[in-house]
Formats: sequence, C-alpha cells, structure tokens
Amino acid sequence: MDTATASAKPAAAAAGTQLPEPHTGLIDARLMKIEEVARDTKLYTFARRDGAPLPPYKPGAHVDLHLPNGLLRQFSLVLPASSNPESYTVGVKRDENSRGGSRYIIDEMKVGDEIKISAPRNNFPLVEDAEHVVLFAGGIGITPIWCMAQQLNALGRSWKIYYACRARADMAFVETLEKLEPKFRHLHFDDTGGGVLDIAKAVAEIPASAHLYCCGPNPMLKAFEAAVSGRPRNLVHVEYFTPKEEAAGQESKLGGFWVELARSGEEYFIPEGQKVLEVLFQAGVDVDYSCELGICGACETKVISGTPIHHDSVLSEEEQATNEKVMICCCGCKTERLVLDM
Ligand code: FES
Repeated sequence: MDTATASAKPAAAAAGTQLPEPHTGLIDARLMKIEEVARDTKLYTFARRDGAPLPPYKPGAHVDLHLPNGLLRQFSLVLPASSNPESYTVGVKRDENSRGGSRYIIDEMKVGDEIKISAPRNNFPLVEDAEHVVLFAGGIGITPIWCMAQQLNALGRSWKIYYACRARADMAFVETLEKLEPKFRHLHFDDTGGGVLDIAKAVAEIPASAHLYCCGPNPMLKAFEAAVSGRPRNLVHVEYFTPKEEAAGQESKLGGFWVELARSGEEYFIPEGQKVLEVLFQAGVDVDYSCELGICGACETKVISGTPIHHDSVLSEEEQATNEKVMICCCGCKTERLVLDM
C-alpha cells in the first residue's frame, strides 16, 4: 500500500470536521537511508531513535508515517523482516498529483530526520504455505508484492510475479527481477509491450488452486477483479491504496441513524452527512483510526446488530456480506440503529 497517491483526509474534511492525527502507540523513529530504485521512486529506511528493535511484521503489512508537515500516510513495508526488525523500509513514488504526501517525502525528507511511525498493520497477509502463489503488481503497488516475492523465494515456495510499469525506467528492483529464472517473473512495460498488461490472459493460465495477490492502480485492480471473478474468493487477495470507488446514490448516504456502543450502553445519533468515526471522536470515545478513507483497517469494529452499508476497500465482498465488522470511518447504515462492540 502506498497512499501517497491518495487524497488527504477527504472523509472528515467533507463533513467539515478535521480529526487530529491519531497518536497512540507511535514509535519515535529516524530516517536512516534513502535509496533510489526507479524513476521518481525511492526507498526510505527508518529505525527507532533509541536503537531498540521494532515490532515484527509479515509481508503485506503497512505502517503509518506521521510526516513532519502534518500529513499522515500509509506505506507498505518492502523487505521481509526478522522477528526483531531493526528497521522498516518503505517505497515512495513521487506523484505529480500528490496532495503533499509523496511530494513532501521525496522533495523534503533527508537522512537524520525524525518522524513518528505506527506499529505495522496487515490487511493483505501472505499465505506462505500455499501450493502456488501468483503476485500481480502495477507501479508503486510493487511494495507489498516485492516483500511477498522475497519471502516466498527465501522459503523456496512455488511462486511467480507479474509486474507492470509504463516503462523500464519506472520499474523498481528491475535488475534483480531480471536475474530471476523466467519461471518466476513476467515483467511488462506498457511502452514496449503493446499497452497495458493483459491480466485476463495471465490469470487464465494460472492453476485453479493458486493464491493470487494484486496491488496497483485502480484500473489494474479492476481488471484483476474481473479476471478472477470465477475463482474462490479465499484464493484472491487485493490491496487498494486509494478507495475502491466513490460511493454513489442512496446507498452511499452517511448518517441518519443511531449508533449504540454495546459495552458502555452509550447512544449517539449520527447526523446526515457525518461519519460514525467523527461523531464518536467528538463525543470523546476512544477510537482507533488512520486513513479515514476505508483503506487501512485501523477503525475496524465488530458489529453486534444492525445492517451497515460498507464503503471500505479493506473487507472482501464476502466479509462485507456477513456484516460482522465494519469500518466506522466510512460506513452508512440501512437500519435505524447500529450496535457496535465498543
Ligand atoms: S481509518 Fe482507515 S479504514 Fe477507517
């Protein structure tokens, strides 16, 4: 995940409420290394300021960077970790349309800068003992995928990566990838490959029992979702770094219902156009959150009763259909009352 390309805080801002940055359990870190890996793309390595080990993580995990300019962004961890990692490395691509995240990091940050980082969170876990794994990455979507590829390689598993970029100059880790045996990689460059990668064709050649992962720009994810629509959903894993789709129509309506907190018995009316997260925060309820976009999973909350309307890009369609949990930064509700386990 790299939400440097995502818009900043639209959720709260849209409703006229600006939530302060969440700051519980943050790690005081220092930028230790910057490394260029492709055009406009760099790796940033952070370590704790006190030199102690960092919390462990598995491939697919991301961290929040609390940037010195006040912005909060999520970035996937690029390198597989030991159980006591000494550093976290994330990849950042400078986006001309950036609202300040990636541009700030690439243009302003330098080795030695101090920064606060969240503990890792993982909504995109790798099934490490799968019979076969196929990884699809587009552009900066390579960051969690590369972590997975290295892990699978180290474990000696059966795997293959499809990685698409506009041009060779845009492809991170290209020299390492090109050294892999051809059975492990399919590298695609739009400028010399006749346009975008044909994901449907690639998926059609993959064994039915394989686990498939994809991270990239939304058009790629859309093509991937279409290509895998006939496969069991437990074998398909997608990570969005911008919201899946703009909510539309009546179903997208926010607010206009009651939220009851089962543990405290407190009740709050969520006015039309407002988010559950905002109302609870304003009422002083202790709520965890980060992206406010429905993409990071930080605000995931268990549902006791009521029928939420899901607008997040974290839960699978099957998970959303069960209505067992909900992202309170972006959900609506079909019923008058939503009872939450908090
Ligand atoms: S705060 Fe990120 S999904 Fe809700």
